Amino acid sequence: MEGSSLSDMHKRVLLVDDDEVIRDVLGTILSKHGYQVDTAADGREALAKVAGGFFDHIITDLSMPIMDGLELLQALQDMEVDAIRTVISGNTEFSSVSQAFKLGASDFIAKPFQSDQEILLTLRQAEEKGRLQKDNVRLQKELEENYIFSNIVARSRAMTTIFKTITKIADYKTTVLITGESGTGKELIARAIHYNSIRKAKPLVDVNCGGIPENLLESEMFGYVKGAFTDANRTKKGLFEEADGGTLFLDEIGDMPMSLQVKLLRALQEEEIRPLGYGQSIKVDVRIIAATAKKLRDQVRDKQFRDDLFYRINVLAIEVPPLRERQEDIPLLIDHFVKKYNQRLGLSIVDIDKTCLHKLMYYSWPGNVRELENVIERGMALAEGDVLTVKNLPAELFQGGEASAPFDLANAGFSIKQNRAAMERQLIAKALSETSGNRTHSAALLEISIPALLYKMKEYELS
Ligand SMILES: Nc1ncnc2c1ncn2[C@@H]1O[C@H](COP(=O)(O)OP(=O)(O)OP(=O)(O)O)[C@@H](O)[C@H]1O
Ligand SMILES: [Mg+2]
Repeated sequence: MEGSSLSDMHKRVLLVDDDEVIRDVLGTILSKHGYQVDTAADGREALAKVAGGFFDHIITDLSMPIMDGLELLQALQDMEVDAIRTVISGNTEFSSVSQAFKLGASDFIAKPFQSDQEILLTLRQAEEKGRLQKDNVRLQKELEENYIFSNIVARSRAMTTIFKTITKIADYKTTVLITGESGTGKELIARAIHYNSIRKAKPLVDVNCGGIPENLLESEMFGYVKGAFTDANRTKKGLFEEADGGTLFLDEIGDMPMSLQVKLLRALQEEEIRPLGYGQSIKVDVRIIAATAKKLRDQVRDKQFRDDLFYRINVLAIEVPPLRERQEDIPLLIDHFVKKYNQRLGLSIVDIDKTCLHKLMYYSWPGNVRELENVIERGMALAEGDVLTVKNLPAELFQGGEASAPFDLANAGFSIKQNRAAMERQLIAKALSETSGNRTHSAALLEISIPALLYKMKEYELS
């Protein structure tokens, strides 16, 4: 299931025992059954081998000279080595066995072992257990993710076009670049692509390219194999390998340091990675989705981002518009968040008063949907009755910043007739411009009949 081309065909076993006969006998049994076997005569030799390559299994004796089995298990734990550990030992004292389990052994076989089958079965069971655990974690996450996908709400033309694109391209391995201001829903869209694709049963792995220090990012992404006796005592799979068969989401790609961009480009072009300190390349099958709030083109111009990498990832671009450019999504989003936080906070807000809705509709939302969500959550927590009112809104919403207010409430006077006319005129103008003057579509957006639209267009002198 790991899908690494190193481990797919032949599981790699490191057999650690000071007894040469055991190494020979057990080694032969395992090789005969398709394992690729390497051996070590004590803990220290084993660590040196672990530092030089990946193993699916480490089978170790307990009493050995130089470094014994328990010390080896301790070191493997400290190094966060991924392999399944099995102890095979003549020492069946409770204290040693229980210590071995505490140090991460998944099974224990008493020497002399009964049969080939006993050994093989133990290894297979451990493999199965590990696979089930990984699947469980993933299935659980997938359930949550699907829930999230059904929770993307939008009705604006721009967003429904994006939904259509997602559905169309989900199954292809095409690299997708999602751009848009912070909080517009880029991550949500990346998840939607993965969970609507044939890759959904494989992992979706996130990398925050801006959140990891430059010197760690490379090893995080590509993995590393380091000398067991240096300060960084670890051997670890990179995120590329973790995402094998699935999707790698490179978030904030605009923040990726130049030094790594060239390595990323090579990985994308060759579809293989080179773990740090590892002599070979490993094939990976990964779909890349990248996102950024920065203007990558400007970064390319300013030599902050490699142009060749830009062209490699900008195969299919999805641009998520800021919330202020899709006001028609706002009521839907409000409704969605009110339901969400009613449930989450145990509230029963049923309505939003008109002035409050007006403020929410015409605020400029520099933080986009994330900011709207926070405002609704906070407002609901503060609300006294079952209606959300302006009293529950934060001060920012009242300090200018209205995106396209059809009228200024503070100075508008009280005439509903006049104010409504101003608002209607703007809405109609907006619908006409969004539909390039198509009256049928405009009427549908405005939720009025075509004759009513034509009448109002004449009244407001719009054409
Ligand atoms: N269309 C939508 N429907 C429902 N919720 C949304 C929608 N768009 C965004 N959200 C919510 O808004 C918040 C921000 O979305 P997300 O994290 O996807 O934004 P982002 O573009 O990745 O932001 P950043 O650039 O800051 O990382 C999330 O809580 C998300 O669930
Ligand atoms: Mg994000």
